[in-house]
Amino acid sequence: MKRMVVVGTQWGDEGKGKITDYLAQRADVVVRYQGGNNAGHTVVFDQKKYSLHLLPSGIFNKNITNVMANGMVINPEAFAEEIKPFETFKLAISDRAHVILPYHLEIDKFNEQLRGDHKIGTTNKGIGPAYTDKASRLGMRMSTFVHPIRFKEKLMEILEPMNREMYGMGKGNLDFNTIYEKFSKYAELMRPYVCDTSLLLNELIAQDKKILFEGAQGVLLCLDHGTYPYVTSSSPTASSVPVNTGIAPWLVEGAIGVTKAYTTRVGSGPMPSEILGDLASHIRIKGNEFGTTTGRPRRIGWLDTVILRHSKRVSGLSYLAVTLLDVLTGIDELKIAVSYTLDGITIDKVPAEIEDFEKCLPNYITMPGWKEDITQVKSYEDLPENTKNYLIKLSELVGVPIGMFSVGPDRNQTIMVKEIF
Ligand code: IMP
Repeated sequence: MKRMVVVGTQWGDEGKGKITDYLAQRADVVVRYQGGNNAGHTVVFDQKKYSLHLLPSGIFNKNITNVMANGMVINPEAFAEEIKPFETFKLAISDRAHVILPYHLEIDKFNEQLRGDHKIGTTNKGIGPAYTDKASRLGMRMSTFVHPIRFKEKLMEILEPMNREMYGMGKGNLDFNTIYEKFSKYAELMRPYVCDTSLLLNELIAQDKKILFEGAQGVLLCLDHGTYPYVTSSSPTASSVPVNTGIAPWLVEGAIGVTKAYTTRVGSGPMPSEILGDLASHIRIKGNEFGTTTGRPRRIGWLDTVILRHSKRVSGLSYLAVTLLDVLTGIDELKIAVSYTLDGITIDKVPAEIEDFEKCLPNYITMPGWKEDITQVKSYEDLPENTKNYLIKLSELVGVPIGMFSVGPDRNQTIMVKEIF
């Protein structure tokens, strides 16, 4: 496959960064297509640790073209900070991506406060409010932001109603000059990279380049197909790539669905296979299950194949990449959720109503665990029988072949089962 999407199949944090980083070594182009700096992954490179939130994973390789596509919302201040350590890179930012400005962060925090006990648990990065402005046709496109005259005019125009909103929230006025001066510098920094990335991508496709589309978050956080309202404000599915990048749907050749060997979730909302107590703490610590962006401890659960089949259906998944398999080593018995019981009836779907999803009780099968250290295995064949059986069962239940798996954080602990890209 020459044009492939990396998709998170759960609630984000599946290890997409690691899989993308691995596959990016074989790519000519890496494209981020949605979300903003709510995403996060850590990459260790040349003995230095980098946390990427906005930049595509190909940024470490000067031969790879990195694209921040129109489906993204970009905070220029965060961009300026993140790009600092990089000197030589190829980058294109879509002129149609939307800009996150300081008031979006204020509104995000304020909305969360208003929700009281029903907080979404957002990353407070202004993602929802920026997408709200885009949908309300009040947003600012990157093309306007980097325009030498129009940014000033548009900012003035926006700040008037925004300051009324700030007043309503009991906050002080946003000062035009302060924002303008600060953000003009960011606009200058970004201007050379801003272009029509749909044109660029279509040209690169015509040249038969290998393109990796890098999803952020996971399908269950999708605004349309996720566990609404506990979702993000964009669509991380493979099916959203065409609209979020400006290419034809049939140009996407396949998707690799990244799934942890168990389940995690940050933020609020139901999670039927959640585990509490000592086993959850053990997995959390062993798997370092703390958010890259917010540092929050992640909730832990057994592998849930109802949500994986849901992800397969609404997104499209050609292969699975199973991450953090080593974290399960030493656990005697492993449970896998295969269906739910809702009001006494067995179901095999994620209900649209969050109140119904909250009531879903998981039905499990149990698989024997393994005790052998698997962190040094180099191929699928090297895995203990029980680990293989766990992968085979997972693949059967989801109906998608395993393309890759990983047994540790290092690049060389990621193993390809098939040549998929
Ligand atoms: P927002 O994207 O900041 O609006 O947050 C909405 C929901 O998505 C919250 O539950 C967040 O915890 C979750 N979320 C957003 N980005 C990520 C991510 O990269 N990994 C995991 N969860 C995320």
